[in-house]
Amino acid sequence: MKILIAEHIADEGIHFLKQTGFNVDIKLKLSREALLDCIGVYDAIIVRSVTKVNEELYEHATNLKVVGRAGNGVDNIEMDGATKRGIIVVNTPDANTVSAAEHTIGLMLSMCRNIPRANAHIKSKQWDRTLFRGVELMDKTLGIVGLGRIGSMVATRMQSFGMNVIAYDPYIRRERFDQLKVTRIDELGELMRQSDIVTVHTPKTKETLGIIGAEEFKLCKKGVRVVNCARGGIIDEAALHEALENGTVAGAAIDVLKDEPHPISPLLDLDQTVITPHLGADTYEAQKNVGEAVALEVFEALQGKLVANA
Ligand code: NAD
Ligand code: MLT
Repeated sequence: MKILIAEHIADEGIHFLKQTGFNVDIKLKLSREALLDCIGVYDAIIVRSVTKVNEELYEHATNLKVVGRAGNGVDNIEMDGATKRGIIVVNTPDANTVSAAEHTIGLMLSMCRNIPRANAHIKSKQWDRTLFRGVELMDKTLGIVGLGRIGSMVATRMQSFGMNVIAYDPYIRRERFDQLKVTRIDELGELMRQSDIVTVHTPKTKETLGIIGAEEFKLCKKGVRVVNCARGGIIDEAALHEALENGTVAGAAIDVLKDEPHPISPLLDLDQTVITPHLGADTYEAQKNVGEAVALEVFEALQGKLVANA
């Protein structure tokens, strides 16, 4: 069996796969052409979020049996194409939850206290304390869109900051809201009206793409702040840009961009934004968990075993 690791995973995962006796090739940052040229010989491919595993790739991947997604969302994998060819797709939905939740909170604090701009200011040998006045989180309302794994971790952690946490997730049972002591909001518009900070934690689907856009910003309190550590485009970037420019939105903290990995968004040019290059899962702990989990799942799937996250 031949496995192609096309995006970086932790050494622990690579080591595990190598000691199984499988043939493991690590080819990072291949051009699309080079990937299409070589994929035909592989039984499995492991990717993170950059490689598009789509019809074009499947057509060249005549031996492919398993796609390992080292991470959570599978929005870069065309599932129908895999299913109709009998290709198994595995991912690691739990392995980086803590890191993504913590990064969300880091972004929120950075945005509310202007930490990145203040850091850049003092490192340019200036000292003006009047430029960076922020806002507290205590007693503010945090609106969470998507109360799944990451959304619920953000909820409990932000309750300890004294925030009033509300959430919109029509797919989660009422008891889960009660268990988390989070107020259930039945309409997204109502969540937008009540929140001081809105953070999105849904998967990227046809339904959630642009779920927060111009109409939703019209409903917000003036000076709302928003966070997207889920997927680029869940908050419509053009509408967000407009809302930041006209002052409806006071700040935005973003880990994921619609057109990543090409940093061309106009949001990059605004002082009111704090932006990181998709670092939510980038901790030693999460990468070790993800690398080990995806390696084991790919190994088991290639052996025809039942895999939990297939
Ligand atoms: P999850 O599946 O556990 O939770 C997602 C929640 O969104 C579910 O409860 C679901 O019911 C809800 N949801 C779906 N559609 C909705 C809609 N239209 N309106 C409201 N709620 C809706 O997922 P998760 O593990 O919590 O991940 C959340 C997001 O974070 C995903 O987009 C994932 O890809 C992303 N993620 C990003 C990073 C990063 O590095 N920035 C790391 C891990 C995960
Ligand atoms: C994920 O979905 O797990 C994250 O976005 C992390 C990643 O893609 O590397």
